Parts: sequence; structure tokens; C-alpha cells
Amino acid sequence: MNSKTVAQLLSQDETLQDVSVKGWVRTFRANRFIALNDGSTINNIQCVVDFENFDEALLKRVTTGAAIHVTGELVESQGKGQSVEIVVKTLEVLGDSDPETYPIQPRKHGFEFLRRNAHLRTRTNTFSAVMRLRSSLSFAVHKYFNENGFNYMHTPIITGSDAEGAGEMFKVSNLDAKNPPLNEDGSVNYKEDFFGKETNLTVSGQLEAETYAMSLGKVYTFGPTFRAENSNTTRHLAEFWMIEPEVAFMDLDGNMDLAEDFMKSVLGYVLENNKEDLEFLDNRLLQEEKTKPQAERIAMSLIEKIKFVVDNNFKRVSYTEAIDILRNSKPNKKKKFNYIIEEWGADLQSEHERFLVEKHFKCPVILFDYPANIKAFYMRLNEPDHEGRETVRAMDILFPGIGEMVGGSQREERLDVLKEKMKALDIDEKELWWYLDLRKYGTAVHSGFGLGFERLVMFATGMGNIRDVIPYPRTPQNAEF
Ligand code: 4AD
Ligand code: MG
Repeated sequence: MNSKTVAQLLSQDETLQDVSVKGWVRTFRANRFIALNDGSTINNIQCVVDFENFDEALLKRVTTGAAIHVTGELVESQGKGQSVEIVVKTLEVLGDSDPETYPIQPRKHGFEFLRRNAHLRTRTNTFSAVMRLRSSLSFAVHKYFNENGFNYMHTPIITGSDAEGAGEMFKVSNLDAKNPPLNEDGSVNYKEDFFGKETNLTVSGQLEAETYAMSLGKVYTFGPTFRAENSNTTRHLAEFWMIEPEVAFMDLDGNMDLAEDFMKSVLGYVLENNKEDLEFLDNRLLQEEKTKPQAERIAMSLIEKIKFVVDNNFKRVSYTEAIDILRNSKPNKKKKFNYIIEEWGADLQSEHERFLVEKHFKCPVILFDYPANIKAFYMRLNEPDHEGRETVRAMDILFPGIGEMVGGSQREERLDVLKEKMKALDIDEKELWWYLDLRKYGTAVHSGFGLGFERLVMFATGMGNIRDVIPYPRTPQNAEF
């Protein structure tokens, strides 16, 4: 007899004589009702045992966390809360669990405790729902690009270029840290290192993705990226997954259209395909909201928030317009912001981004055309505006509750302009010779963006801390598991 998953059994609409299922015991009530879960769905299947038919010693081993194999008859449930249940014929304990020490007890656990037990936290409803959603979202990402003619490109994890300027990098080296080979001036001689030069973990696959966009046309990467920034926030990881499409012959407007369409598509996918998990998380959030004072509660439920994003246009606002809004805003005038916006050119802090999306526009916002000197070297320079100010064709997409979800731009395709910019920023042309080649041989308008996958998962699950949407978070002072 082939074993079925709990999800398969629960979706049966007929009774079945002989079924077999394996999973982990969530609870065993009244020596009679086993709630069994195998991770295939948020729901448990109820297995009913008649204790008179079973050895007492065997039933004693049916404890929370134990792995068991059950066979029996699938019947319409007598009780409330489930449509079908299994009347158990045979019961085998595959793996015992010690009820004294098993960390995941059938009661509410704090997220901090569960982070310390991240290897077992997906045995809870919340984390199994989050991780099924994460999996579903990543499938939706590949599905979207596949259906839209993109090639999936694997950009390197170890990189020899550190010119992106996106953040502090982790060094990759196999030199003896205690006794490295030295140059005459006392500096480390990386010529003797594994790659014969200094190498790092990548902060972004963009520059390499550009090379493939300029030959395959439409490409995307979806892989891990690493940043050694010491930011201990609920939205930063040292290792996170980034989705980066890059498209030839596409300008910034096309880039905004792509990003918006893409995000609506993947969020729409989980609304369709992860209903039960979303309903569970929706309810979890509702309970959490109830514990907050009325004024701080969020008006929309999780599912309503996702639907709102899928059904409404993102607001597109230039940096210059945003600065005007912020300068005239109440928190700016009353000096409530930590960073008061005074002049055009100021970098936006997350308090400003949150004000724009959560208080002012109350929807996702695409900010574009940022001042050139607060953005990366590769972004395409605009003509100076009527006041002679220099901006670049950059865009950031800001989400309620999350802040920056996407960063992207149209790329500088003019060799002379790019070279000048690199010179001004002291970026060595020799290091990026291949990047400059793209501008020498058949250069063309092209654009792309990077979306922080964990921030998308946060939005789709309503989880408040980025450490709770990736299996094993890497953050300052923490690389357990
Ligand atoms: O804005 P960023 O730094 O953009 C780039 O790296 C570009 N090269 C992308 C491109 O154009 N292809 O990062 C992109 C996104 C951010 O908007 C944010 O969502 C996420 O990556 N991100 C992080 N997510 C988690 N932890 C961190 N430390 C992150 N840093 C950036
Ligand atoms: Mg950014």
C-alpha cells in the first residue's frame, strides 16, 4: 500500500478502505485522537485509535514530535473541525521523541525561542506555512520569467570585482590567516591566494547579468548574495536571495512596468495557490493585532493587503516630487524625523520612505530619477534639470510595512559618460574591462532591477522579522546551523 500525504487524504471526497500515511505527531489526546502532520499542508489529519486494540506500551510512545506510520480506513469524520479522519488499524512508531526535552511543545512559542530552534521550527504551523509560501513564491518567480521569455542565468557567487559599491563584502581566501604571504611593503600578497587575486562573495549578480542581457536579450538571476554590513535590523541579512532581471533595449519606464507586473504576478500566484497557508497567517496576524492598542492596528488584513497590491497601480513619483512632499510634511515641519529634509539631494532614510508609502500615498510607490551622487556609478545620467541638477535613471520600489523592496535602474550605455563617472569615483577601468567592452561592441539601452526575495516573503506572509522568512538566517554574530 502506497502512503499518501496528509494533503492528499484531506482532499479526498470519498471514503477509502485502506490508507497509509506517515508523519509527526502534533498531539495525542485522550489516548484516542492523534493529530498527525507531515508538512504537506497546514492541516493535520485526525487518526482515531481504539486503545483496547493496541498495546499500552506502544501508545505511550505516541508523543508530540514522534514519527509514526499509520494505516487504516479513511472515513467521514464524526467530530467537528475536519471532514475526514482515519480509523487506525495498524500503528508503528518510526522514531520516538522524548516528551521531556522536545522543544516544540503543543503551545505558543516565542519567535526568538524558535529562532534558536530553527532546525525544528518548521514543525510549527506558522513556520511551515511561511516556508511553504517561500517555496511557492520562488516557483512563481521562475514561472513568470519562463513564461515571459527570460533565460535563467547563474551568476558567480565568488567574484573578483568589487566595484558595485552595494555594501561591505566578505573576503574569500584560503591563505593562512595567521601567517599570510606578504609583499615587501607588509601588505598581504593576494597573488599567492587561490585565485591569484583578491576575491569576495558577490553582493549582486547585476554586472554579470548585464553581459548576458547584451547577448541573450532577457535574462534573470535568482541566487544568494552577501553583504557584510553590520546592520542589525528586522529587514537586513548578511546572506539573502536576490532576483535580478536584466533586459536589453528596455528603458526605465519599461523597467518599472516589468517590476510592477512581475510582483503582481507572483503575489497573485500565491493568492491562488496557497489559500490555506495565507488564511492561517492572516488569522495569526489578526490575533497579534488584537494585542496592540487600537491606534497602532493595521486596517487591512494580510490577504486584503496582498490583493490591494495585485489590483492597484503602484504610484510613480520622481525623487524631486518626493522631496517636496517630505519637506512640507508634518513630521518634517515638527522635526519629528530623525533626519530633517532640508535640501534637494538628501538621501532618503527609511523613516522618509515609510512616511511616503504608509502615510502619504498608502500604496506601493516607485521613486525614480534620484540625484546622481547618491546612486551607483552604472546608472544612466539624465540631462541636467532646469536648475542644473544631475539625476540618474534609478528607481526604488517602496512597500508599506517593508520599505525598500526593489532597487534598479536604466544602465549607462554610453562609453564616454561611463568612463568619466568611473574616473570621478576612482573605479579602476582595468578591473571592469569586460563591463566596458559591452559599451564598445554593440552597446544599447538596457535596464534591470534587484528584488530582495526575503522582503517579498515578509510582505506575503506578514512576518515582521526577516530572520523568520529564511530557513537559517545569517546576521552579525550569528551563523548557527
Ligand atoms: O538596492 P540594491 O543594493 O540593488 C542592487 O544590488 C542592484 N545591483 C540590483 C540590480 O539593479 N540588479 O539591492 C536590491 C534589493 C533591495 O531593494 C532590497 O530589497 C534587497 O535587495 N536587499 C537586502 N535584503 C536583505 N538584506 C540585506 N542586507 C539587503 N540589502 C539589499
Ligand atoms: Mg537599494
